[in-house]
Formats: sequence, structure tokens, C-alpha cells
Amino acid sequence: MNKITLPNTLTVSPAALGAMNFGTTTPRDAAFAILDAFLDAGGSFIDTSNNYAHWAGTGDESETTLGEWLAARRCRDRVILATKVGFDRHGEGAGLRAAQIEHWVNESLRKLRTDYIDLYYAHTDDYDTPLEETMAAFDRLVRAGKVRHLGGSNYDTWRFAEANATAAAQGGTPFTVMQQRFTYLHPRADLPPKSRFNEPTGRERLRYLADKNIPLVAYSCLAKGGYAADERLPADLIAGDRLAFLRSMAAEKGVSASALAVAWMTNLHRCAGFPRVIPLFASSRVEHFLDSLRGVDLTLTDEEMDALNRA
Ligand SMILES: NC(=O)c1ccc[n+]([C@@H]2O[C@H](COP(=O)([O-])OP(=O)(O)OC[C@H]3O[C@@H](n4cnc5c(N)ncnc54)[C@H](OP(=O)(O)O)[C@@H]3O)[C@@H](O)[C@H]2O)c1
Repeated sequence: MNKITLPNTLTVSPAALGAMNFGTTTPRDAAFAILDAFLDAGGSFIDTSNNYAHWAGTGDESETTLGEWLAARRCRDRVILATKVGFDRHGEGAGLRAAQIEHWVNESLRKLRTDYIDLYYAHTDDYDTPLEETMAAFDRLVRAGKVRHLGGSNYDTWRFAEANATAAAQGGTPFTVMQQRFTYLHPRADLPPKSRFNEPTGRERLRYLADKNIPLVAYSCLAKGGYAADERLPADLIAGDRLAFLRSMAAEKGVSASALAVAWMTNLHRCAGFPRVIPLFASSRVEHFLDSLRGVDLTLTDEEMDALNRA
């Protein structure tokens, strides 16, 4: 798998591994096997958060499991580690006040057993804290060497732009990566979003990212397993002809629909109006993970991309 260099200079694998369930619903041994397989395949970009997966445990498990794996394999220098701050963990942790950011970064570093984080995301917006305070606190982490780059997740596009304008006005560090829900299937327009968090990426957001040369890390990009099994498809996605087309092209090419969805995302920046997209996906099983990862090495022709886009 060839690595890609992002506009912010981070060099990453073209797909990212989601560690959200590691240490909770994906037990430690299975997590280690998936991490080993990803590294062996040339993968490097790994995603976690300071609160994963608190709904199934304490919220420390994912970072702790990754820290144990990094120590056991002595591979910190081969990994690009992304983690996040700002979401709830059992009633604590929500918010992006300076004191919260300073506290949680140290907790993440301790659990991950590292002295730096490659990419540190605001996990979701905090309307109650001035952007000046949040962006200044993040900038101090960069200057202190605890964090290399910043990202924003689950922000409205205009608020992401305001955060970056605030950083620029302060002479600070901007968000250079956005993480948002995005997949091949279109969302249903007739359902109100469950929350700001989890809102699917629309065309306007994609155009903004393309224009600003900001990569999109696409979460839940395998539709929660829905390309492999209908019953897993989230109810707010439209399946219909587009899913049927994806599956038929996948069958013709001899790959799974999950792998073709990954390939569509890694090739999308070749199409006008789309940013670089890095699919971020997860599995509890090595064979499923590697099946999806095959998409990274699939090159799609312009005609195939056009047909997928139009379906
Ligand atoms: N920023 C945020 O707010 C946010 C929100 C959600 C997630 N995330 C990040 O994104 C990562 C992935 O998100 P996600 O888990 O929501 O969505 P996802 O990657 O779209 O879906 C994961 C599911 O897909 C199934 N799957 C994967 N490959 C498969 C294959 N080849 N065949 C059959 N099933 C397959 C897995 O089932 P099996 O276990 O059976 O393989 C798993 O349950 C998380 O780990 C986390 O790092 C971020």
C-alpha cells in the first residue's frame, strides 16, 4: 500500500483503522491481530478517542489497548496516531475549555504510552466555549510538542471555518483535517439528523474541503457493515439502485462491495469538486478488515468513477 502525504505534511496510509471498539466489544487479542495485520499490510493511520468506548465500558479501553499494543510491538515510529477530546464520558469530559483540553491530552498520552499525538481532533463543537479559548489551548499543545497537527470532527462547516479564522487571527495552529461521517450511499433527506454529531457529509461540505485543500477522514464509511449485509444498513441511508450498482460492479471486479466502497473513496479526489478522502473503518474480525482494505489497492478508471458517481 502506497502512503500519501497530506497538505499538512503528515504521511499516512490511504485508509485509516478505527479502534473505537478495541478493548470493549472487540477483545484485546482480536484487536492486536487486526492492528498487526494492518501494520503488515503497510497501514499506519490509526484512529481512537479519549472516550472510546464509554457506552460499553469506562471510555479508557481503546486508548489503553492501543498503548499496550504500541509498547508490545515497539512500533510507535511506524504509526500515525490520531485521538480526540471533547465528547462525553459517563457525564464527564464533554466540552473544549482550555482546562479540559490540557487535562485530557495528558490522559491520552499516558494511556497511549507515548509522548506525542500525531493528529489531535476536537471531537465535536462546544458552543459554550469561545473559539479563541479552544484554539489557543490546542495551539499551546502543538508548541509544547505534545501534538503535531489538529483536526476538527462533527463541526458544522461554517464553525470549522470560524475556528480556523480564529486560529489565523491569533497566529495559532488551524485544523488541517476534518473527520465526518461519509460513505458511498446518499443520506435520506426526509429524516432530520439524529444530532449534529453523526450528520452525513453533503456536497457543500465536500466543495469547501476541496477548495481549502483539507482532507476528509470519513467515518462509518462502510455503512456499519451495510455493504456486506442489508440488515446492518443504517436506516438513514438510501440503499436502492445505488447499492445495487455498487454490488454489481464489485461482483464484476471480483471484490466485495465494502472494498469497492473503499476504492471509490480513495479515488474520489480525482473527480472535480471532491477533496482527498481517507476512509476510516473498523472491524472485529481480521478477515473482514483485510477484505475491506483490498479496496485501497484498486485503481478505478475515470469511466468507472463516473458510473459510480452517477448511479
Ligand atoms: N468522529 C466521530 O464522531 C466518529 C464516530 C463514529 C466512528 N468513528 C471512527 O470511525 C471508525 C469506524 O466507524 P464505525 O464502526 O462507525 O463504522 P464502519 O467502519 O462503517 O463499520 C464497522 C462495521 O462494519 C463491519 N465490516 C467492516 N468490514 C466488513 C466486511 N468486509 N464485511 C462485512 N462487514 C464488515 C464490521 O463488522 P465486523 O466486526 O463483523 O467485521 C463493523 O461492525 C471507528 O472505529 C472510530 O474510530 C468516529
